[in-house]
Amino acid sequence: MENAAENKTDLKNRKSGMHTHRRLFALARGVHGFFPGIAFISLLIAAVVITQMYLLSIVISDVFLLNKVSNPMHLYYLIACIALRSILLWVRERFAQQTAVSIKSGLRQNLFSHLIKLGPAYTRTGKTGELIAILMEAVEKLDDYFTKYIPSVIHIIILPVTIIIFTFSIDWPSGLIMTITAPLILFFMWLIGTYAKKLTQDQWGQMSRLSSHFLDVLQGLKTLKIFGMNHQEAENVYKSSDDFRIITMRVLKVAFLSGMVLELAASISIALVAVQVGIRLIEGMMSFQPGLFVLLLAPEFYLPFRTLGSHHHAGMEGSAAAQKLFEIMDTQEDSGSIKVPENVSLSASPADLSKDPKGLTIHFKEVCFTYPDADKPVLQNINCTLNPGTLTALAGPTGSGKSTLARLLLGFLHPDSGIISANNYCVMEMEKEFWQQFIAYVPQHPHFFNGTILENLLMSKPHANMDEAEHAAQRSGAHAFIEQLPQGYHTPLTDNASRLSGGEKQRLAIARALLKDAPLLIMDEPTSSLDPESEQRAAEATELIANNRTTLVIAHRLRTVKNADNILVFNKGTIAETGRHNELISKKGIYSSYLETLGIN
Ligand SMILES: Nc1ncnc2c1ncn2[C@@H]1O[C@H](COP(=O)(O)OP(=O)(O)OP(=O)(O)O)[C@@H](O)[C@H]1O
Ligand SMILES: [Mg+2]
Repeated sequence: MENAAENKTDLKNRKSGMHTHRRLFALARGVHGFFPGIAFISLLIAAVVITQMYLLSIVISDVFLLNKVSNPMHLYYLIACIALRSILLWVRERFAQQTAVSIKSGLRQNLFSHLIKLGPAYTRTGKTGELIAILMEAVEKLDDYFTKYIPSVIHIIILPVTIIIFTFSIDWPSGLIMTITAPLILFFMWLIGTYAKKLTQDQWGQMSRLSSHFLDVLQGLKTLKIFGMNHQEAENVYKSSDDFRIITMRVLKVAFLSGMVLELAASISIALVAVQVGIRLIEGMMSFQPGLFVLLLAPEFYLPFRTLGSHHHAGMEGSAAAQKLFEIMDTQEDSGSIKVPENVSLSASPADLSKDPKGLTIHFKEVCFTYPDADKPVLQNINCTLNPGTLTALAGPTGSGKSTLARLLLGFLHPDSGIISANNYCVMEMEKEFWQQFIAYVPQHPHFFNGTILENLLMSKPHANMDEAEHAAQRSGAHAFIEQLPQGYHTPLTDNASRLSGGEKQRLAIARALLKDAPLLIMDEPTSSLDPESEQRAAEATELIANNRTTLVIAHRLRTVKNADNILVFNKGTIAETGRHNELISKKGIYSSYLETLGIN
């Protein structure tokens, strides 16, 4: 039973391996003229090799039998052939390299835009280290695949076939030996390849684990040091890299072993040709020059097999890396299949969503959501309305699903059932990029990219001028601290603005959202409390920003909930209570006990 299952997985792996090779070849075919170009150069190389060996056989037999070179031009032609062969090999390598560079950069771009399309719901799944390994290493591994492996595969079709045809015309027994031994060598290669493939894939898995581990340690260095766990973690990293070393050595062992077996098979085959030609020469059944010609051709015939043997390893590494890469490319956006009620329209134009200057009307109708790897729903039958020009606060215990609701509204997640609509247009049917241009978002932990403060502000509105940026910063209360920095708005931020305090980051993030001036604002307040002054400024900025737009705030501060026009109280994935602060307090229900637990009632 177990064996059958194993065989099935094996077969599936082999099939997906074949599929990966086919896709990689298709990528190369996509580059105009790559295959015909390499094939043409290979054909020229074949012609040069045959001519070179023919001339060599004539020159040697002249020297051997006549003690002189009958035609000195033969020597010059021979030198020209040797030079031409090197030039052709160089041209082929250059040509393949150019193709590889363009395929790699295309792949990286596609992969990156696909990741952006998949959004944070995909990248959040704890695969950052692996993703980095794939974006950088896996794509680089394809270099050898396109510059070495594919040209060797094409070469192995063209050169031996040309030589066999030639040999048959001069000496059919040698041609026959070549015809029989060549497929045998290919069979050996395939046999070793199937075994080594699994190992190469394991090696990839181990390398991804190592990168994730490194990333994890670097990001958590502060925590590790404080808890005195840095030595333990160093040991873990050491163990991961040692596992990687072991699997790499095993892969290399197979690679060397396969190289040796192929060399041996090729040498035996050459010996077979040589022995039978030698015997016939001694017996006088064959004249010297053609015999020598065949003898010189034989090593050239088996050379592409040996080259492919050494490049086979590059091919396998490339295909194992590409398999990971294609897995990401094949991950589909979760678009769900939702029944849209008749009063909700499907396609919205920008005008439909910006007709009300006070913001958007958002409806959640019977929205349910379960995370892919979770066993129970996070949100159940959510019904609520966010009105233009109002501030709606989400409150409730930790883990009750507040951020999940925000992620659904942002378009990062897709509901399992139910409808989210904006001005009666179905949000889930809109292109993510289209929908997200109507949203300004202040996350709980805002992210700042490496660049100046100004560049980070302008991310939300690239064509804004300095005055607009400054105005937004003034309104969010960020201007005062920015001005005090020696380089002001041109202060470079690095490492997610680690030099700024929590309150400063928050105000900067609010300024960024203000600059965007979108009809819907979603804000996830930080749970950690800021110093009173920062708190005051951030709250004022939020109130300011909430005018003239639809605002949804995941509230952790008393001031926010007190000011809210409507509070949605979450409890275990459902909306348990709604109303204004005072109404909810007098109810003495979940809301008031929630505030009590926070100690802010
Ligand atoms: N990517 C995920 N995969 C699986 N479960 C998740 C994922 N993200 C969140 N959850 C789970 O969903 C539930 C709701 O999470 P959510 O982040 O929405 O809570 P929250 O109300 O925002 O909490 P907090 O106030 O602490 O921010 C939690 O139990 C959480 O563990
Ligand atoms: Mg949250």
